[in-house]
Parts: sequence; structure tokens; C-alpha cells
Amino acid sequence: MSLNKEIEKRRTFGIISHPDAGKTTLTEKLLLFGGAIQIAGAVKSNKIKRHATSDFMEIEKQRGISVATSVMAFDYLGKRINILDTPGHQDFAEDTYRTLNAVDSAIVVIDVAKGVEPQTEKLVNVCKDRNTPMIVFINKLDREGLDGFDLLDELEEKLGMSTCPLSWPIGMGQRLKGIYNIFERKLRLFRPHGSSLEDDAVVIEDIDSDELEQQVGEQAAKELRSEMEIIDTVYPDLDIEAYRRGEQHPVFFGSAINNFGVKELLDCFVKISPPPLERPTDSRLVRPDEENFSGFVFKIHANMDPRHRDRIAFLRICAGVFERNTNYYHVRLDRQLKFPNPTAFMAEKKSIVDRAYPGDIVGLYDSGNFKIGDTLTTGEKIKFTGIPNFSPEQFRYVVNKDPMKTKQLDKGLDQLMDEGVAQLFTKVDNNRKIIGTVGALQFEVIQYRLEHEYGAKCDYEPLNLYKACWIKAKDKKALAEFEQRRKNSLARDKKGELVFLAESSWALQRVQEAHPDIEFVFKSEV
Ligand code: G4P
Repeated sequence: MSLNKEIEKRRTFGIISHPDAGKTTLTEKLLLFGGAIQIAGAVKSNKIKRHATSDFMEIEKQRGISVATSVMAFDYLGKRINILDTPGHQDFAEDTYRTLNAVDSAIVVIDVAKGVEPQTEKLVNVCKDRNTPMIVFINKLDREGLDGFDLLDELEEKLGMSTCPLSWPIGMGQRLKGIYNIFERKLRLFRPHGSSLEDDAVVIEDIDSDELEQQVGEQAAKELRSEMEIIDTVYPDLDIEAYRRGEQHPVFFGSAINNFGVKELLDCFVKISPPPLERPTDSRLVRPDEENFSGFVFKIHANMDPRHRDRIAFLRICAGVFERNTNYYHVRLDRQLKFPNPTAFMAEKKSIVDRAYPGDIVGLYDSGNFKIGDTLTTGEKIKFTGIPNFSPEQFRYVVNKDPMKTKQLDKGLDQLMDEGVAQLFTKVDNNRKIIGTVGALQFEVIQYRLEHEYGAKCDYEPLNLYKACWIKAKDKKALAEFEQRRKNSLARDKKGELVFLAESSWALQRVQEAHPDIEFVFKSEV
């Protein structure tokens, strides 16, 4: 098959949601449709539930599971679908942000009763920054929830989406009768725990026909007609190009656990979602159909087996064909590397791949060569851009508990930071090391892994900081003066970039006012 045909077949996306909205359940139902798993319940949830924060071994177990579910590939209606898993737990939000850089589109799951929640908002904003096309799935229709129009309003107001409903609920909770598939003009009646493969939707081209009454009864038919009238007048028709530019957001309704409304979503998704598109690098845009291979690492996962220190680096292929046992150029290290066992992921199974195409993700066994954001090419010196480092929100000083193991501690910290577990800063005035994370869980993870994987012991000292901001300045003199005056609040990140440690938002504001020529940035590129 030609490269262009392979590219056209690929659909690589991520599902994002606030925890508990139904991301895991929806993923599982999609895999059932794709025949990638046979029974419900086969995909273990990789999420770390909120109550697990105190149960550290649970986290370790989950870490193992999440390697297997990091990428789930299956074929459906002639398309190769790659679902990239994104951790729902907000302490792992950075992992999710990075994974979102490797997708071509996203599905946003929203709980019908809860509407837009804080984590939904954060993740949608990350997608919007990159103009990632998004489809919304409003889940749990079998429960009482918010009115459909109120939900669309919320999507517009809180998330700034321009919505376009493509399916519409007929009732909700106890009164749920079905959904009307606006995209295909079909009616699906609600049957709890529907079978995954049978398609028993009734085609109703014209909702004014009597067929609608016969199927859902007089009252529900009347309501649906009047709601459809509002939809026709208020909401735009589907504009696939606008959706692909990230400017229009199709909305589906359903109940993942009942496998209801999921087929409608998936069938539309394979028709409208974008194949791999061109991607930015530091010097040019890379088109997927370029002959020369290129790709980047967006995630690194430590091996669960303590006897093997190796890790798996997840590589997103952006252009050309990736081939096993071929020398590729590791741009940052300025070195050729060859991969004898690149791994592909088909649902629960891992297998060695000989070739992979744009949109595909391969797992590369790594003994420490990779860090997040690394680019591989056939020789060109480029770096794919867009993987963010956000300002951490929690900070602690690292204390070395076993000075005989300083080397191990440094190595362990270095590698864990390359994996993106947290960010390391070194204070300018006294060289003390500070770990910054998005959530508190990572501190435990680091401590545990340093001890079990590197034989080093660390402790923490509390540090009350509000944010770390990267410093940019055009005026060299102003920068020198700033560095001199604020020495006690400055640190360097792992790349050596200057970072200001702000104690509070008020303190930050004051320093900003005192140094108008200095730019304080809350995000940096890895
Ligand atoms: P997440 O990955 O987004 O965190 O959510 P997950 O799929 O784990 O779903 C969260 C809870 O919501 C689960 O219940 C799940 O069964 C339930 N759920 C998912 N889809 C629907 C739906 O369409 N309707 C209803 N009523 N519930 C739904 P749980 O009790 O937390 O877990 P479990 O014991 O069922 O696994």
C-alpha cells in the first residue's frame, strides 16, 4: 500500500475528561466495536482513582497496567484507529498535556449531570491552544442530567466551543427513549446494555413522519420535533473543514456503559476526523507524506521489572516510514541509533513491528538515550515543537539522606526528570535542588523509585512557593540587574534556563511591576 494510503487510513486521537465522566468505559466500548477485545471489562482501568492517593502500591500496580493501555490500536471500517490513553488523575496532568501533542484529534467526555468540570476545562484549553479538532460525547444519559440545550450553552460559555449537535437525546434518565442521530437521520431506541455489534437503528429520514410516534410515543415525538426545530435554526450544519481546523465542535449524546450512542459517535468519527497532518518543527513544517522518516518521543515509561533498568520511549511517527533495524539520527545526541525490537500495541497485545506509518506510535526500548521531546530523523537536524512544560504548583527541596549514594541520587533524579515525572530546578544562590510537580503524588513516586530503582534515599523539605516562571528579556542590562537583585529567588531548570520562584501571586505581581522589561512566562518548551 502506498504511503499516502497508509496515512489516509490513520486516525490517532485521545479521549479527555474529568475523572469519572466515563473515559475508561467509552474507551472499552470503542475497542469492543473494533473487535480489539471480546468482552466488556477486559480493559483494566489505568486510572488512579482519587481514593488511591494513600495507597502507594496501588499506584505502582496501575503504573504497570498503564504501559499496556498507553496506546490501543484497532481497525474499524477500513481505518486504523490509535487511541492514546491520557491519565485522568490530575496529578498526572502533565503526562496528559504531552500526550495531547501526539494526537491528531480528541474526544471530550462530559457527564450529563455534572456538565463541564475543572479538569475538562484545563484539557480542552490545551487542545484549543493547538487547534486540535474535538468531538464532544455527553455521557450517562441513563441518569437524570442537565437539559441538552443548557449543556450546549455551557460548552459554548465555559469552553468557548462552537457546538454542532449531531445526535440528540429523546428523554433522559428514567424517561430515556432513545437518541436521534442527526448526522445519519436515524433513530436508536434505548435498550440497557445493548450488544456491541448489532445495528438496530431505525432510519427516519423525515421526523415529521408517523413512524416517529410509533417508535417513541406521541409526547416524546412532539418534544423531539420542537427541539429539532430549534437545532435547525440555532445551530450550524456540520462543516467538516471548520471542525478539522478546531473551529466547530460536533456533539454526541449517549451512555457508554449501556453501549448506547457510541456507534453513532464512532461511525461519524471515522468519517470526519483528520488523518495525520503536517507538524511544526523549529525550522519548518513536516508533511506526513515526506519520503524521509521523522518522529518524536512524547512519553517515557519505566520498566516495571526492577531487574531491567530499561524504559520504553513512545515515539509518534510524523512522516515517512519507520523501519525496524534501521539507523536513525537522534538529533539531540547527534548520534545514530538502531532499534531491533520496536513495539506496536494492539489493545492488550504487544508485538514487534517491522514498519510503522505516520500517526502510529511505536514503543522503543531505551537504556537512557531518550528524553521527552527528542526527535528522530533520517539525518535532518530538526526538532518537533509544541511539547509544553508548565509551571509546577508544588515544590520541595530535595535532601540527600545517604551521602554515600550521591551519584545514584543524581542519576536517578536526572532520569526521572527525563521521563517527565517532575521538573528539577537548582537554586542560583546555594545550588540546592528543588523538585516541582503538578500534584503531590509525584513526590511519593520519586522517593519510591529512587530507592527501588537507583538505591538512593531522599527526603523533602517543605518549600512554600506559588509558581516558577521562566524569565525572558530582550534588554541584557535589565536582565543582569534583575539577576543581581533577585538572586535569592532564582533557579535554573534542567536546560539551564533562568526561572523565577514566586512566593505568592501578590509577590509575583510586585516583582513584575518593579521589572517591566522582564517577561515572566508560565510555560516553556521541553
Ligand atoms: P473515567 O475513566 O472517566 O474516570 O470514568 P469511568 O469510565 O471509570 O466511569 C466512572 C464511573 O461512571 C464508573 O462507575 C462507570 O461504570 C460509570 N459510568 C460510565 N458510563 C456510564 C453511563 O453511561 N451511565 C452510568 N450510569 N454510569 C456510567 P464506578 O461505580 O465509579 O466504577 P465501576 O465500579 O462501575 O467500575
